[in-house]
Amino acid sequence: MHVLIIGAKGMLGKALQKQFEADQVIAWDRDELDITDREQVLKHLPICEPDMVINVAAYTNVEKAEEEEDVANKINGDAVGYLAEACAKLNIPLVHISTDYVFSGDKKDGYVEEETPSEPLSAYGRSKLLGEQLLQKNTQKYWLIRTAWLFGPQGKNFVETMISLGKDKKEINVVGDQHGSPTYTRDLAKAIFKLTHEQSPFGIYHLTNGGVATWAEFASEIFRIMEMPVKVNAVTTVEYPTKAERPAFSILRNTKRPLLRNWQEALKDYINIRNLKNP
Ligand SMILES: NC(=O)c1ccc[n+]([C@@H]2O[C@H](COP(=O)([O-])OP(=O)(O)OC[C@H]3O[C@@H](n4cnc5c(N)ncnc54)[C@H](OP(=O)(O)O)[C@@H]3O)[C@@H](O)[C@H]2O)c1
Repeated sequence: MHVLIIGAKGMLGKALQKQFEADQVIAWDRDELDITDREQVLKHLPICEPDMVINVAAYTNVEKAEEEEDVANKINGDAVGYLAEACAKLNIPLVHISTDYVFSGDKKDGYVEEETPSEPLSAYGRSKLLGEQLLQKNTQKYWLIRTAWLFGPQGKNFVETMISLGKDKKEINVVGDQHGSPTYTRDLAKAIFKLTHEQSPFGIYHLTNGGVATWAEFASEIFRIMEMPVKVNAVTTVEYPTKAERPAFSILRNTKRPLLRNWQEALKDYINIRNLKNP
């Protein structure tokens, strides 16, 4: 099977390339194709004759998106519509990744797959919701996978940020009133591989590692596993203002697929592997 991964140089893109290596992977990123160029998308996709496309290309800077909503909308919104249009013409499935930030975050019990997102709090969330809508408008053969709080090798992520801050600080303030599910890119890539190879019905899926944490709990667990003596002070969102507003409870409930292992176990694996590579 020819699998075209778009956004292959990103954090999840790298994990997917590894996971799908038994298939014939075609790895594209911005240099090979700018997905915001509709003409190029429609022209280039058929050339490599893919049997399936996985789109992980995105505008992922949540803070910067507040100032560049139009750019975020083009990449996370319009471009997804172009990819869906191209895949529909080729009659092949499109896997597309979305986020917990499409939800406003006021449901403490979390969101099931079929819940209709409304009123995302941030420009990034709005742009990703636009992408979800254009995907569903332009093709029927889609697997729309929402995930959250990604960490993994070869990417800018919260775990690496904490480890690097913890080298210079004894104490650190971290938000303690936003809840989500930290997710290891390798576990997510494996779950996407299974979902597509088992030919799960097309539709919306929620895939994250199991369990829930606040950013402060996530940070504490990172320092505990790293054996770094850093004290984490849980602060409120109000005490830690950012340009982008983030949901308080954005837990994605997975009611359709096998559950992934708990985030703590996944985090331990990630840190053990990273420490072997950077002793
Ligand atoms: N990271 C998270 O915590 C998180 C949480 C929930 C959902 N997600 C979703 O998961 C997916 C993967 O996230 P990630 O963190 O792996 O992303 P990432 O590391 O930021 O990678 C995204 C890739 O897409 C490329 N790209 C951006 N604009 C493009 C364009 N116009 N044409 C072609 N390629 C373009 C980027 O290239 P440049 O570097 O040159 O821009 C980059 O290589 C995204 O859909 C994201 O919204 C992420």
